[in-house]
Amino acid sequence: MKLLICAILAYLIGSFPTAYLVGKIFFHKNIFEYGSGNVGTTNAYRVFGKYAGTLVLIIDILKGTLGALMPVFFRLDHHWVLFVGICAVIGHCFSIFLKFRGGKAVATSAGILLAYNPLLFTICFIVLATIVYVTSMVSVASLTTVLFFTIASLFLHDWILSTVAAIVTVIIYVRHIPNIKRLLKGKENLVPIGLQYKK
Ligand code: G3P
Repeated sequence: MKLLICAILAYLIGSFPTAYLVGKIFFHKNIFEYGSGNVGTTNAYRVFGKYAGTLVLIIDILKGTLGALMPVFFRLDHHWVLFVGICAVIGHCFSIFLKFRGGKAVATSAGILLAYNPLLFTICFIVLATIVYVTSMVSVASLTTVLFFTIASLFLHDWILSTVAAIVTVIIYVRHIPNIKRLLKGKENLVPIGLQYKK
């Protein structure tokens, strides 16, 4: 019963539509209608600028962290952190507040890792930031970093972490199918940051 409550709470926390609300409240714009149309950090950064993008990034990471920590608050085994965290990711992707539309799972998934293994979170964040700087494409950085995360988890001999990493990888790749199609055509959207972006 406690586990079900944790899962529902995590889903609701993940459903919080950060990028949508930031766009509506501060810019009076519907983020679905601008840039890539995605309700996530990257598109908030692209459409509303670095401060809005950073705000969305922090809140979306914390959604994953808070959702994942529900089992700790309910005194359940620590490994439930990872599985309950996935409910927050599902909430982010299929938000009850956005008619089951949502983002691409990257920041919220990172939040789960922050709750479970802050060192690996930091390493993955550095890998992601480096690839964003070199390519100016967050999709490339996200798709590469989540693979790096899954492979790195294998070296920790933690099968629950590796299982959840694999699940998160599948979710992120499926959510990035439009990006993968654009990448294959050489038409992926850039973010205004890094070496490839020219003003
Ligand atoms: O986390 C989402 C990012 O990888 C891609 O976002 O807006 O370029 O589709 P976007």
